Amino acid sequence: MSEKKTIADTTVLVTGGAGFIGSHTVVKLLESGYTVVVVDDLSNASEKVLDRIDQIVGDEASERLSFYRADVNDRAALEAVFDDCQIDRVIHFAGFKAVGESVQKPIEYYANNLGNTLTLLDVMREHGCKSIIFSSSATVYGDPDALPLTEQSTKKNATNPYGWTKWMIEQILTDVAKADPEWDVVLLRYFNPIGAHPSGLIGEDPKGIPNNLVPYVAQVAVGKRDAVHVFGNDYDTHDGTGVRDYIHVVDLAAGHVAALAWMNGRSGVEIFNLGTGTGSSVLDVIKAFSAACGKELPYVIEPRRAGDVTANYADCTKAREEMGWEAQYDLADMCRDSWNWQSHNPNGYED
Ligand code: WQD
Repeated sequence: MSEKKTIADTTVLVTGGAGFIGSHTVVKLLESGYTVVVVDDLSNASEKVLDRIDQIVGDEASERLSFYRADVNDRAALEAVFDDCQIDRVIHFAGFKAVGESVQKPIEYYANNLGNTLTLLDVMREHGCKSIIFSSSATVYGDPDALPLTEQSTKKNATNPYGWTKWMIEQILTDVAKADPEWDVVLLRYFNPIGAHPSGLIGEDPKGIPNNLVPYVAQVAVGKRDAVHVFGNDYDTHDGTGVRDYIHVVDLAAGHVAALAWMNGRSGVEIFNLGTGTGSSVLDVIKAFSAACGKELPYVIEPRRAGDVTANYADCTKAREEMGWEAQYDLADMCRDSWNWQSHNPNGYED
């Protein structure tokens, strides 16, 4: 059971809080009045993000933010954080997340993503903190039998080790809560997070060649890439290209704040889909981004990418009815904010 607490009296540990979704969630938490502790080893994030967060939230809220550069797998470092700070809730983002890379490096993905979760849970338990939100993914639904996807839709086989780690961590948390009913667990299944904070100060900054569609499109728009490579146009969709439920990262961050309020004083395991309920194709995205940046973006049709599903999009009724949360932004908003970030930060957080 998570102790019922006021926001002003609640400290939230955010693992991976310097990352794309993590940083946007930290902004929302601070703006909502929470005290926030970020643990991030910066293996896939820049420390500059923290200064940008300070700029966005202002001096008063920045006083409620502290940062520890550490790997969640480093038990001693994690114990030091829990010794220093009275952690009441945990939001767990830290993990490797590149689908293609996970196929090449399964050992690293299982060791890091499962290992850091088990270390985190053990240290939480040692310190009497049993309240966690996990960054899960629609990828646990695999190739859907029916759409839209509800939280009762079948969890099917993942199509890559990254997806399996999300699948397995959900199982770990479910078993932990079954063994000890004091645990309070929320599994948030994200669809496809894109966009950026409207200030343009924080956004998605993938290392190397972007695996995901929108950061790649954004780099074409800013002139870093020649053309978008469309992975297949022979799917059974309205225009033959893959369909996904793209959700603004600021909406996603708000979903975490809503989940914290919802779980306050509860126990057990609860699952929520965080999407918009609207599916958009690859060509829809290219068209929307072209409108946002004011130029026609070139693309070439390539063969399908292994492991891709034809389509997925969410039924978000449960999050709306139980948490009072629903996405506010549409695809045009997402592309506008993504372009604003990319055009002001053509090299991401690098100078
Ligand atoms: C979207 C669509 C591609 C790139 C994965 C994870 C999910 C989440 C987001 C990690 C598909 C097509 C893509 C490109 C393309 N987690 N595409 N050209 O695979 O739906 O989801 O990333 O952050 O958990 O499963 O996202 O953006 O890679 O692909 O045509 O250069 O765009 O075929 O239809 P995906 P994606």
